[in-house]
Amino acid sequence: MIEAAAFWAVIPAAGAGRRIGGAIPKQYLPLAGKLVIEHALACFIEYAKIAGIVVAVDSNDDRWPSLKIASAKPLVTVIGGRERCHSVLNALEHLKNVTREDAWVLVHDAARPCLHADDLDKLMTTLADDPVGGILAAPVRDTLKRADRENRIDQTVERTALWHALTPQMFRLSVLHAALQAAIEADVAVTDEAAAVERAGLRPRLVEGRGDNIKITHPQDLALAERILAVRVLC
Ligand code: CTP
Ligand code: MG
Repeated sequence: MIEAAAFWAVIPAAGAGRRIGGAIPKQYLPLAGKLVIEHALACFIEYAKIAGIVVAVDSNDDRWPSLKIASAKPLVTVIGGRERCHSVLNALEHLKNVTREDAWVLVHDAARPCLHADDLDKLMTTLADDPVGGILAAPVRDTLKRADRENRIDQTVERTALWHALTPQMFRLSVLHAALQAAIEADVAVTDEAAAVERAGLRPRLVEGRGDNIKITHPQDLALAERILAVRVLC
């Protein structure tokens, strides 16, 4: 019998958190009794089908080594790069040495601490036999406006068929590696994995996830994440 391809998680955690400001990168800020990154890792550590986790950290990161994260599965680090795409590519380079080309890779932001286990399961189950892979995403609810240079409304944008791209984003190792490498070589700024895969001519699937899988971006997001996690404990 041919063994099924493994699932690996990649956690880009090498950002400086410029938009949130402050001396501590946002993935290391305290949130509900742990650090943001510990919440982001928890689902993957606990989920049996994930074979291992690669975390990309900044070369000057002196916080990661002092964390005590209990994991029964491989939890390895690589050095991140200039942009998120470079950090992810470095993690994929490592994975190429330890797993098969057709392994599934789930890329999840270290700054996204509210991923629900049901969503992780839904993504992996929905895409397990997909020829391309895909992403967790949430349909846009609000009416969207395009602004002019003076912040006056230039246009109302039709929101039907528009989605917010979330993470995890799940693709085959070889497909994602080639797509990211090509985007970087062409100097095209891709802010998520799907954009690189789309650029390669493929059409990733959108898997509807919970809208509360927020990314910590601005200071007020921490209080929101705190409330999201608190409600879950009560459920
Ligand atoms: N990231 C990374 N390597 C980079 C830049 C970002 O691994 N060179 C990671 C961040 O640590 C974060 C995720 O990618 O977990 C999403 O990026 P973003 O929200 O943009 O985080 P930052 O780049 O840290 O924040 P900012 O853009 O405000 O500086
Ligand atoms: Mg950034």
